[in-house]
Amino acid sequence: MIERYDFAPLDGITRGVYRRVWQRRFGGADRLFIPFFSPTDQHVLTERDRRELLGSPGIPQVPQVMTCRAEDLVWAAELLRDLGFTEVNLNLGCPSGTVTAKGKGAGFLAEPEALDRFFDAACGRLCLPLSVKTRLGVQSPEEFARLLPIFDRYPITCLTIHARVKTEKYRGNVHLEEFAQALAQSRNPVCYNGDLRTVGETEAFAARFPAARAVMIGRGAVADPALFRKLRGGQPATRKELRDFLQELYAEYQRFYGQVGTAAQRMREVWFYLIHLFDDADRLNKKLRRFRSPGEYEAIEDAILRELPLRQDCQGELV
Ligand SMILES: Cc1cc2nc3c(=O)[nH]c(=O)nc-3n(C[C@H](O)[C@H](O)[C@H](O)COP(=O)(O)O)c2cc1C
Repeated sequence: MIERYDFAPLDGITRGVYRRVWQRRFGGADRLFIPFFSPTDQHVLTERDRRELLGSPGIPQVPQVMTCRAEDLVWAAELLRDLGFTEVNLNLGCPSGTVTAKGKGAGFLAEPEALDRFFDAACGRLCLPLSVKTRLGVQSPEEFARLLPIFDRYPITCLTIHARVKTEKYRGNVHLEEFAQALAQSRNPVCYNGDLRTVGETEAFAARFPAARAVMIGRGAVADPALFRKLRGGQPATRKELRDFLQELYAEYQRFYGQVGTAAQRMREVWFYLIHLFDDADRLNKKLRRFRSPGEYEAIEDAILRELPLRQDCQGELV
């Protein structure tokens, strides 16, 4: 049975403004993960990272760190403890070339021995519980057989597994067979992540994996902001609720960036996923992808909310 629902970190989308407004308007996740920050060589927290970490107080949140150096993680944990957080999450999943070329994110999974040394050096010195968000490997999900014994040697409060490998990024089928093995064999608690978009899909997952206690959902929750609420037996989003949510989000982005153009651009990124909540969206979606001014954006959003039928359950390719 699923006992915990986590909102995945989506860099560029679920940043502080989004998390704050979403939590106020919808909520329903047990915890929201803050997109990663990378410690600097000088161990100084940048103003931007500080604003992001402190920008949405009062919400149950887990900050995430991306590094391949044990001393960075030890430093980050102390900093995060001082900021009031109670857990630090390590990013071993990011597939972006610029990150993996530096041996970070999913790139670290290519170096199992270095990963082992990293945990060995960090774990005894961490002042916060450590959780990890990983993939099944770099090229092939079979690599996880080599990685799991490493994770097993350390006290990881939760091992969240995005059931793809680095080269697959966020597309194609998830590897549920390999996830099943990881769930059965891991000594640490496991959380599943990948392509859960609807109540039906999440219930089907829970029925197939009765031992699973936690799931993390990202794009599906941006596509349907009421998804976590529905998973707890609550109501789908109404048109009015969506309108109020989007208006507040747009206003908050304008306040945050001080520029309506940047705010409209941010809204376009949210709509990239949210459009899946509507049927017959092709024509307006094309316009949404191409608008040039905030005024155009506002008119298209208004048309979507007035004209398009709401889906009961959001489906479709999310990438
Ligand atoms: C735009 C975008 C940004 C992401 N940013 C992060 C991040 O900062 N940290 C992280 O661990 N994963 C990040 N991810 C991966 C998601 O947390 C999640 O693992 C992935 O979207 C699969 O889950 P989903 O199918 O429920 O969306 C990102 C994914 C996307 C699409």
